[in-house]
Amino acid sequence: MDLLRITGDTPLTGTVTAGGSKNAALPIMAASILATEPVLIERVPEVVDVTTLSAVLAQLGVEVKRQDDGALRIETVDSSPTRADYELVRRMRASFCVLGPLLARRRRAVVSLPGGCNLGDRPVDLHLAGLAALGAKLRIDRGYVIAEADELRGADISLLGPHGATVTGTANVMSAATLARGTTIIRGAAREPEIVDLADFLNTLGARIVGAGEATIEIVGVEHLNGGTHRVIPDRIEAATLLIAGAITGGNVHVKNARLEHLGGVLDVLDRAGAELSVSANSVSILMQNRPRPIQVTTCPYPGVPTDVQPQLTALATIAEGRSEIVEGVFPDRFMHVPELKRLGARIERAGHAAVVDGLRRLVGAELMASDLRGGAALVLAALAAEGVSLVRRIYHVDRGHEQIERKLARLGAQIERCRDQQPAKVGSS
Ligand code: UD1
Repeated sequence: MDLLRITGDTPLTGTVTAGGSKNAALPIMAASILATEPVLIERVPEVVDVTTLSAVLAQLGVEVKRQDDGALRIETVDSSPTRADYELVRRMRASFCVLGPLLARRRRAVVSLPGGCNLGDRPVDLHLAGLAALGAKLRIDRGYVIAEADELRGADISLLGPHGATVTGTANVMSAATLARGTTIIRGAAREPEIVDLADFLNTLGARIVGAGEATIEIVGVEHLNGGTHRVIPDRIEAATLLIAGAITGGNVHVKNARLEHLGGVLDVLDRAGAELSVSANSVSILMQNRPRPIQVTTCPYPGVPTDVQPQLTALATIAEGRSEIVEGVFPDRFMHVPELKRLGARIERAGHAAVVDGLRRLVGAELMASDLRGGAALVLAALAAEGVSLVRRIYHVDRGHEQIERKLARLGAQIERCRDQQPAKVGSS
């Protein structure tokens, strides 16, 4: 296992480029199962989650190759397999996005339930209800969802759950509906840019989807989907993380490949925290001259502040001039980073689904352990701000979604290096 060794307290300065969106690329790769011809997907980030999904697709007879120009070429070479095993699906929940495309294209799908994860209980009931509404027969057997349908039929479906819309649920149902007979209406659809990107991709292949990005999406089913080329949108979560790296170190960072229209909620928070922002359509610069002002944040579905930036904003609040309140509106238990931030000296109290953070002038370096992707990124950011040396262990969580995080941060002047973790795994740790 690798760890990151970070010597903090250096303002980051310079220019850095965000990569392609992981959360857009994964459902697009899964939806490639629907195509009758090869597809080319450009700007797919080289992150571990993409490798994991490539392995799931290989198991399903779908070949994924990275070309010399960096694009992924995806082609179905054997359309008989229908089973995605627990061993792969448990590693990454987004593997569940193969369910809808498999069912629509191969009429049968056997996909492991993903199980819980470090963000808490994460049900898939809405995915299943949506596919059932399209006419699929579903049952659960020994931890696997078995879905069958000789033909999917368009339907009027609501996908709204107790915490708002479901992103990958919308992806699953929208993808399946492209090949259903007749028209499907999805109400309470997720409005995230990644859903718009998936719809753009599917429409490039010949699908007829309108309304992606709004709460109601209409899909007119077609006979088949062709091949095509698509370029994935920039990663708004990575861009936000790099901007917060600038803010938390009192630096001056220019992030290229950051789309202003996708970052509104986060930029509002950074503005209120006292950052000087300058924006163009495709890049954002941040200059932080003073300690951040305290922030009040409630995460919610797009276009609000994304839950995937909550841990990083919590890290920022640890050095703010006063009391911040961070309310988690999507995954109520997403606070595993809090005890680790406290190891740096941070003063944070949990209050139900919120964290109350009393900012300090200084954090002090410590040994830390990442427990999930975004929480791990938050620890890296806090370590960049802390005095002295920190070790962030289990950095593989961060590698799931960040392409070369240490190289990008080092280019901004961070003192950061990747090392082998010599410490044996402790008995009883998971
Ligand atoms: C996606 C993102 C993840 C992000 C999350 C919320 C990908 C690959 N992952 O995850 O990074 O944190 O959106 O923006 O894009 N829910 C139900 N029933 C369901 C499905 C979801 O109740 O069937 C609930 C969840 O428990 C959660 C909320 O709906 O409270 C939103 O979850 P959802 O949008 O489905 O998250 P993912 O799509 O898994």
